[in-house]
Amino acid sequence: MDDQKIKDIVILGGGTAGWITAAYLGKALGPSTRIVLLEAPEVPKIGVGEATIPNLQTALFDFLGVPEEEWMRECNASFKMAVRFVNWRTPGPGVPQPRYDNGESDHFYHIFGQLPLHDDLPLSHYWTQRRLTGQSKEPFDYACYKEPPILDAKLAPRWPDGRRATNYAWHFDAHLVADYLRRFATERLHVQHVQGLMQEPVLDERGFITALKTKDGRLLTGDLFIDCSGFRSLLINKAMEEPFVDMSDHLLCDSAVATSVPHDDDAHGVEPYTSAIAMKAGWTWKIPMLTRFGSGYVYSSKFAGEDEAAADFCRLWDLDRDKVQLNSIRFRVGRNRRAWVKNCVGIGLASCFVEPLESTGIYFSYAAVYQLVKHFPDKNFDQVLLDRFNHEVETMFDDTRDFIQAHYYVSPRTDTPFWKANKELSLADGILEKIAMYRAGLPVGVAPSDAQGYYHNFEEEFRNFWTNSNYYCIFAGLGLLPDRPLPMLAHRQQALQDVDKVFAEVQREQQELTKGLPTNVDYLRLLHGRK
Ligand code: FDA
Repeated sequence: MDDQKIKDIVILGGGTAGWITAAYLGKALGPSTRIVLLEAPEVPKIGVGEATIPNLQTALFDFLGVPEEEWMRECNASFKMAVRFVNWRTPGPGVPQPRYDNGESDHFYHIFGQLPLHDDLPLSHYWTQRRLTGQSKEPFDYACYKEPPILDAKLAPRWPDGRRATNYAWHFDAHLVADYLRRFATERLHVQHVQGLMQEPVLDERGFITALKTKDGRLLTGDLFIDCSGFRSLLINKAMEEPFVDMSDHLLCDSAVATSVPHDDDAHGVEPYTSAIAMKAGWTWKIPMLTRFGSGYVYSSKFAGEDEAAADFCRLWDLDRDKVQLNSIRFRVGRNRRAWVKNCVGIGLASCFVEPLESTGIYFSYAAVYQLVKHFPDKNFDQVLLDRFNHEVETMFDDTRDFIQAHYYVSPRTDTPFWKANKELSLADGILEKIAMYRAGLPVGVAPSDAQGYYHNFEEEFRNFWTNSNYYCIFAGLGLLPDRPLPMLAHRQQALQDVDKVFAEVQREQQELTKGLPTNVDYLRLLHGRK
């Protein structure tokens, strides 16, 4: 049995995906498996100010045994409690402040966490009933979650003594994370780091990779090869000739202009959320960290040229186009037909990419390596393992693609050719069914009753990634209401009466948190040891 064991793994690429993979496999497989990571310093990695989701700690750093404070300090990380969508309902140019529509501010929060259940139904359904019968005009997020007032007030998600007050994720500089994981993997886990440019892979007669040849003549042999070479996808697409399934018929954005913008924290505080600001041909992310925020305009090159996008982006933040250095990025949207072929697995941008509207890029990397460990092969490369892994990655990706496409589809905006074109694209059957369920008043997807259980069981979360809570935040936030309350509610008069107490409890929690939590900027300064 031992002679069939995978003993040598070669990872190509030292971006976030490469180092996540190296650290995770190093920990999961132990020192008896040699892991080598080859990286060409002259080939730049993608690295913008990036946003994440809450399971980053539980699924990745807890697995590695790294406390949150340790990596946060090393990576200039800040807190993220939600995505704030700005101007996704009303027509107009890209501006950072919400417009007003019939007296309602055009913003909503996509909040982490799950809704309380009342009489076995999520609170979303009682909110719908109240809203449709005219009993309440409160927006969904402010009525059902404790977080919106603390987000508005730019407070931290932790009490002054460090206890968590809400669910949250993080913002950070992706280069710093890759660098931190490099040190972790090489110093604490025996991963070997080789610097050099891969010139070509060597394949045997079966089409399996046996080695990578570097430009300076080294030969890195292995049993299993992981392609983390980014959009170049040098092994899985080029060497294995696995086709990339282009999904630009679902999502139109294919480009971004990005930069880092200085920020006066004393005057304005630090927002504890990512913003997604609607623009003429896409949207702009704003990812706040101490003293600056990362920002980029994600747009469709069919509807805006690079110059026009750069000009609109600079106007948004009042930047001088001649002085600011913009990073222009062109990306592909979709995934490889199969993520794993023979003895080559793609992870990160080499495998799949969907625009960062829901901050899923880094998640896709650690979720893929989690699945790889679960389906880890020996030298027989049992096809069942490959097929199951490929199925998991495909489902993970396509489900998120559909969720993101639904944001554009459900948004009522049609004021520019870009927003109009989004209404004319076809949607996959799965998401059409979810929209139909929502309209009929049914819970969409699963409605976990226990947020703690959900966030602490990665397997459960992976299987039910976008829950009723996520769909409600987005659909209700974009102004789409169910056609009618769930008919069964008419038979639950007692539950309808008692639910007032549940809404009142949400408000009480909002007040308690708003009174007791420190500001985000103060908490981050303390955590990072800055004045
Ligand atoms: P990346 O391109 O970073 O790295 C490739 C590596 O391969 C480099 O080390 C390079 O040197 C190496 N390489 C290439 N060719 C080589 C050769 N011939 N020989 C040796 N080495 C070679 N994610 C997220 O979670 N939240 C977010 O907010 C965002 N935002 C975002 C915005 C935009 C515009 C993009 C394009 C992407 C995001 N992402 C994201 C995704 C995130 O950036 C991405 O998932 C990670 O950075 C992973 O990148 P990779 O490591 O796959 O490729």
